[in-house]
This record gives sequence, structure tokens and C-alpha cells, in this order.
Amino acid sequence: MRNEEKNKCSNDVYYFKYFTFTIRIFQILNRMKLNYPVKSVFYASAICFLIGIGYTSEAQAQATKVIKIKTDHTIAKVQPNMWGVFFEDINFGADGGIYAELIKNRSFEFAKPLMGWTIQRKKAQEGEILVVNRKEVNTANPRYLQVKKQTDDFEFINEGFKGIGVKKGLRYDFSVMYRQSKPSVKLVLLLKDANNKIIGQGSLTPDQTGNDWKKQSASFTATETDPKAKFSILFQGNGNIDLDMISLFPGDTWKNRPQGLRADMVQLLADMKPGFIRFPGGCIVEGTDLANRYQWKKTIGPIENRQLIMNRWNTEFAHRPAPDYYQSFGLGFFEYFQLAEDIGSDALPILNCGMACQFNTAEVAALDELDPYVQDALDLIEFANGDVTTKWGKMRADLGHSKPFNLKMMGIGNENWGPQYLERVAIFTKAIKAKYPDFKLINSSGTDPEGDRFNLLNKTLRNSNADFIDEHYYRPADWFLKNAGRYDNYPRNGTKIFVGEYAVHADKSVIGSNRNNWQSALASASLMTGLERNADVVQMASYAPLFAHIDAWQWAPDMIWVDNLKSYGTPDYYVQKQFSTNKGTDVLSITLDEKNIIGQDGLYASAVTDQTKKELIIKIANNSDQAQNVDFEFDGKMKLKSKATNEELASSNLNQLNSFENPEAVSPQKTTLNLKSKKLNIALKPYSFNVIKIPFNQ
Ligand code: AHR
Repeated sequence: MRNEEKNKCSNDVYYFKYFTFTIRIFQILNRMKLNYPVKSVFYASAICFLIGIGYTSEAQAQATKVIKIKTDHTIAKVQPNMWGVFFEDINFGADGGIYAELIKNRSFEFAKPLMGWTIQRKKAQEGEILVVNRKEVNTANPRYLQVKKQTDDFEFINEGFKGIGVKKGLRYDFSVMYRQSKPSVKLVLLLKDANNKIIGQGSLTPDQTGNDWKKQSASFTATETDPKAKFSILFQGNGNIDLDMISLFPGDTWKNRPQGLRADMVQLLADMKPGFIRFPGGCIVEGTDLANRYQWKKTIGPIENRQLIMNRWNTEFAHRPAPDYYQSFGLGFFEYFQLAEDIGSDALPILNCGMACQFNTAEVAALDELDPYVQDALDLIEFANGDVTTKWGKMRADLGHSKPFNLKMMGIGNENWGPQYLERVAIFTKAIKAKYPDFKLINSSGTDPEGDRFNLLNKTLRNSNADFIDEHYYRPADWFLKNAGRYDNYPRNGTKIFVGEYAVHADKSVIGSNRNNWQSALASASLMTGLERNADVVQMASYAPLFAHIDAWQWAPDMIWVDNLKSYGTPDYYVQKQFSTNKGTDVLSITLDEKNIIGQDGLYASAVTDQTKKELIIKIANNSDQAQNVDFEFDGKMKLKSKATNEELASSNLNQLNSFENPEAVSPQKTTLNLKSKKLNIALKPYSFNVIKIPFNQ
């Protein structure tokens, strides 16, 4: 029986019962021997009571939907790495973000060599500080600081990336490269709060002399917490010294790695158990021009040899300028692979295809100049997987990882498009497949999920049997809701889809973290049920971008917001986490009136089983402002247990946000449910996303 017919039938039964119940109440009242005023009070109360029951029950009776799940028939397999994360150094995501370095412009390579630094002297002419360029002998790290110290002490102060986050009781690790011909000055290391109160102090006396650069470290402990502190070097004594790579890291980095990553930010990722990490972007792969493209070989090895470049988000948006945004590559390709390994994700690097950003210079490497670009891709596979006897495998081992990283796939180009892209991706594919036939390649479909550019790439790449096409969509909530069935009619064989970047973009008048509201996350969740239902076609997906610094963002919304000390997941974070931690193994058919659930009465749903955990998992979004009563009926031999759980994300306020003050305003709340004779009834809250898990015996 169709759902509407079933509802109509149950309504008819309900109206009949309600009518007979009403008659009975009035018969009883009539028989009672009561005086007139008492009788009228009884009658009035009975009328109110009956109207109340009528309204409530009618609403429930009319809204009940019957959703059917076929438990024994797998319609698609879920890839173990289906739900991943997209990482780009945008919004101060790496430098000033997850890369825990606290000193901005540590080696004086920014366009303005002393950006981020100030000199504080007691008298006008005390000593001399000069940035020197030695490009002819060191192209990767040309500049250093020359200090000539005479009589009185002076300070050299770094403002950090939007301030320095300092935690009381935490160790801070200072290091510096220096060169001095004879013992000279002592460096007093100071952390200071906004009022210049000292909240941490250490010292370092450079103890080696000679023409070579030395590295020396010193640690000290902070005495106060301050999210906006600054760091100062007070020079004491007289003499000359050259300094470079002035660095300060907190002592609580991820896995306590020296000069490592911010642990709170990595932990948020680890908690998601992402299937893959796409890195390093995004548009920074392309660069504004080819000179500023991302070149992985320049991001490995000693950090002082990693050549800094301007971050393309420095200038990209005139309304969000970031003149102090550069890429130090302290988080480089080795660290990306290590991070992926740490949190159990596949590495998914995206490489430049010989084309710079087509919204910027659109510079293109001629076809006969493409070899170095293709070679970078081949060498990366060797770096990740090669035996330690190979050139690049040995490099990996020398960096401390003799075991291969087991790289299985890479993207060729980010959001590139047009015939020039097709020519170049064909050359990459031929060369890579010749050497590594099983290696998977991801191809771009441009910047938009429809239109001429998309159609050309989609058609041509499918015809050439591309492994994956990378679709990107930044669209309003409404688009997401309308596209929950986008993949239901995609070809089932051949090329697979990687939804490599997506996010609901609300009205542009809304700014910053306010765009990460519940409405956006709920619409994403709704569309994601469509990705899950089509897991045979859409084999990977990642929300974008991942991180944003509250004082330094260029692009919003973003999944996780941070300041100098804290971080929180947006409602989108919890939606993504719910999918990736409940991905299951096998997709089941789930229907309303025998149709996929793609927006009927605001409902969107998908279902999977997890054959390892022995759970049936239903994901259902209610985009309506009304509660909805749903009966799940299970069709099949599966032996479902009688107790289920629901993890519900809900808010009646679509503008609801999470924030530093209230980081879990929208986050999963768990309740238990009972199954009765192979049926599960649930009242879905208005504007809710629910993950219902039912254990089963085989
Ligand atoms: O995610 C932000 C940007 O959006 C990415 O860098 C780019 O690929 C896309 O246009």
C-alpha cells in the first residue's frame, strides 16, 4: 500500500474512533445528576479536552510516514576511505594554524623583510639590525639578520600570527641559527602580554664560533595564559652576531614532535577518522603563476632549506587582504604523509598539471616543457612507495620513514579546465600509467558542477576512461537539497566521482563563521545521504575548506574554526564526523512510497550496514519545520536487536552556530529507541539530522 493511502486509511480509522469516543463522553456526562453550573463546567472541560486530543492525535496520524528498508540486499559497497578531509593552507590553516610555529617571518623572507618584527631601543642609535641578502649562495633561504650590538640593550619583538597563544605552565621551545666570529651577545627570551608584563622568560648564550651556521635551542615555561602575547629577544652584552630561523614552538605539539603540529587541531581531525586527506589544496597547488605553484620537492628536508613563497590567498580577495600570508612549508609533503599515517587516512596529494590558476595569470607550461611537471608526479610516487634503494625512496628513509607510505592515488590539476587541461592530463596519465598501471588518477572537472566547462571535461574524461572525476560545488542550501538525487542516474560503470570540495554557501551578506550555521550543515547532510546511496559511483568526498583562523580568514564557511589557543567544530564538522564514523560497508535500499528519499516532505535518507560492527545504520534528515513521525519497516531476514540508538543533531533555529563559547551548541545527542515486531517508530524533530543504529545478529 502506498504511503498516502496508508495514512488516509489510518486517518479514517482514527476519525471513527475519535467520533465514537466523543459521543461516549457526552452520554456519560448526560447521565450524571449534576446541577446546571457544575454541569456546564464539566461540559466545557470535556470539550477542551476532546479538542486537544483531536489536534494532537490528528497531527500525529496525518504525519506518519512509512519508510521501508530492504535489509538483505546490498545495492552498493562503501569504500573504506569514502569520507575524507580537504586540507589547504587557506585562512591561516597551515602557517599560523596547524603548523605550530609561533614566530611570523622567522627567516625574514617576506616581501617586507621585517614584517612582523619591531625593534625597541631605549636610545635612538643603539646598535644596528640589518637584513642581509645572500641569494647568490643560498637561493632557498637568502636572507638573515645581522646584529651589531654596542652599549645599551635593545629588544627585537615578534608579534606572532595575530598574536601568540601562550598557556600557563607550558614549556616553550626556542631555537635559532646563528653565526659569530667570537662570543658576543646573550639572548634573553621573553614572552610578554599586551601590557608588556613578562609571562615567560628564558635565555640562550650562543656558545660556538666560526664561519658556519650553528643551531642552538633553549626552553622555558610560561607563567600565565594569554591568547595574544608577543615574543621578544633582549640582546645583552656587546658584539656582532648573525641570526636566522628564529623559532618558537609550544611544548605540547601533536605526538610531542619537535617543531610539529598543533595537537588540538590534529585531534579534531583524528576524531573524524577520515578515510583520506587531500592536500595541499586547492588553488595553492596552481599558484597565481607557475613560479608560485606548489612544488613538493621544495617542501621536504631541513626547514631552513624550504624556500618560502607568498601564499596566493595573500592577495586573492581584495576585501580580505592578508599581506602577511606566506607559505613557509614547515608543514611539507613528508609531514602531510606522516599526518595521514598518524590518523589512519589515505594520502591524496594533488599536483600541478603545468597550469597556473585560470582566474589569475592562467600561465601554462608548453607541452614540450611539461616533462619536469610529469617527473614530479612520478618521483612523488617513488618518494611515497619506492624501495629505499631508489633515489626518492632513500630520501624518504633519510627523513626517518623507511617503510613505504602506500600511496594509491593522486590528483592531476586542481580546478583546471578547457582543452589545455585535457592535453596535459592525457600526457600525465600516459606516463604514470605506463610505470604504475594500478595507480589511480583524479582528474578535474573545473570549478563548477554544471555548464560548458564541466560538460566538456565530463564527456571527454569519461570517454578516455578516467579513474576519477573531481566535482566541486559551493552552492546555496537550496541547490544541495535539489541535488540529493544528482547521482541516482549517473552511469554505474567506468569513471568514478570524487566530490573533492563542497560546502553550502549562504547568503553573501552573512560573514565569517556565521555562515557555518545549522541550515548549511543540515543541507549538506541531506545531500550526503545521496552520495552515500550512490557509493558505487561517488567513491570519495570531502567538505572544503577545513580550517579557518577567526582573525585571519579569507574564505568562509569552513569546517573548523580556531584562535591562537582554542578550536571548535562547526555543525558541519559534526555532520561530516557522523558520516565518516558511521560509514558502514554496504548500502541498502531505503524508500518512501518505493522512491528514493530525496526531499519528500523535507526528508532525505540513506541506509547502510556495517558488516564488521554488525549494525544497521540509518541516516535521515528532516528539513521541515514540523516534527515528522516515521515508521521504519524492515524487509528481510536480518535479525535486528530490539534496542537501537539515535544520535540526533537538531536545532529549531536554522541560524544556530557553534562558537568558542558554546562549541557544542549543535552536536549529537544520544537517545535509545525500541523496535517492536520489525518496526521502529521515531518522531524526527524539526530541522534534525539523525543517525539511527540498530545492532543485528547475523
Ligand atoms: O576551498 C577553497 C578554494 O575553493 C580552493 O582553493 C579551490 O580549489 C576552490 O575554488
